[in-house]
Amino acid sequence: MTSYNKKSVEDIDVSGKKALVRCDFNVPMKDGVITSDKRIMAALTTINYLLQHGAAVILCSHLGRPKGEFKPEFSLAPVAERLSKVLERPVAMAKDVVGEDAKAKAAALRPGEVLMLENVRFEPGETKNDETLAKAFAALADIYVNDAFGSAHRAHSSTAGVAAYLPAVCGFLIQKEITVMGKALADPKRPFVAILGGAKVSDKIGVINNLLEKVDTLIIGGGMSYTFMKAQGHSIGNSLCEEDKLDLAREMLEKAKAKGVNLLLPVDNRAGDKFDANCAVQLVNSDDIPDGWMGMDIGPVSEELFCNAIKGAGTVVWNGPMGVFEFDQFAQGTLKVAAAVAESGAVSIIGGGDSAAAVTKLGFGDKMTHISTGGGASLEFLEGKDLPGIAALNDQ
Ligand code: 3PG
Repeated sequence: MTSYNKKSVEDIDVSGKKALVRCDFNVPMKDGVITSDKRIMAALTTINYLLQHGAAVILCSHLGRPKGEFKPEFSLAPVAERLSKVLERPVAMAKDVVGEDAKAKAAALRPGEVLMLENVRFEPGETKNDETLAKAFAALADIYVNDAFGSAHRAHSSTAGVAAYLPAVCGFLIQKEITVMGKALADPKRPFVAILGGAKVSDKIGVINNLLEKVDTLIIGGGMSYTFMKAQGHSIGNSLCEEDKLDLAREMLEKAKAKGVNLLLPVDNRAGDKFDANCAVQLVNSDDIPDGWMGMDIGPVSEELFCNAIKGAGTVVWNGPMGVFEFDQFAQGTLKVAAAVAESGAVSIIGGGDSAAAVTKLGFGDKMTHISTGGGASLEFLEGKDLPGIAALNDQ
């Protein structure tokens, strides 16, 4: 496992230096308009620190998956524009990633100025962690700062490779993510309760396996709970099920027993007659969901069971909604659990992606200790895996 004791921007002299800062500006866009600037705002602390301490800032990021060629719809220009507004200073936009325009603009950059490179994934070498590209990134700057937690699970030229050729440190966002989540995993305030949901067992199996070594209570809700119910021989009607994961689910149930972990599954569900926001709904027992009906949320008895376990927690880690919260009639379970986490007084850590979206949509965003900016990255962190973008940075 990676040592997460990494140097940060505060551990090196940045004054008069050109800092290449890898951010995760992979923001949601609709028709060229940014629909959430959460990731842009999350990068500001590091950018402002560097500017205030006399550095010139060269920003880089990916946006979407343009597959190694220039595609205008994946340009970072809208991000540069938004950043320029929030930083209240110009953010120059390079026409390329490490080409002539980027090189000329980087060379001319002065302390206090900001340049944005084009989408690093316009370069075919980026996702292959190509060494030549990594060196070309390094040639633009004096120091490398990785603050792209959301991309830290990718071993790419701009997230990992470049770190071999420059003094390489983390920014404040990565530092916060690994400090809060690292402490929760290594030295949690107990009882330690993990709540896992979301559609697929296969996405979360590594997390379940790792967390079973650490938690006192593991709550499993959401789409993946039906595979666990079926694994125990129950009828789940038309609910989501990964037939090829039934054995794994049984293995996890056994492991929980062997480790003395209190594993809680739903006992009742809100079921719908089809996957539709306006479908017919009935309450069913989780171990006997009728044919033709699919579980789409946990039911009120499960809510009480889960919320009671959350009430006394010292630490809560939550990844994955309890039901199809996008449909109002199936948002109740996620809402109740979010409220219980918010009121618990526990150190509360919300994994990125769907869980972050659910907590924010339901209005509990500012009640949590930490909402991770990484979807895949936070999952891999919770699995106990090495994150290459962090492993590549200089140790303290
Ligand atoms: C994310 O949104 O999870 C990160 O930006 C990583 O994006 P990727 O899955 O395309 O590497």
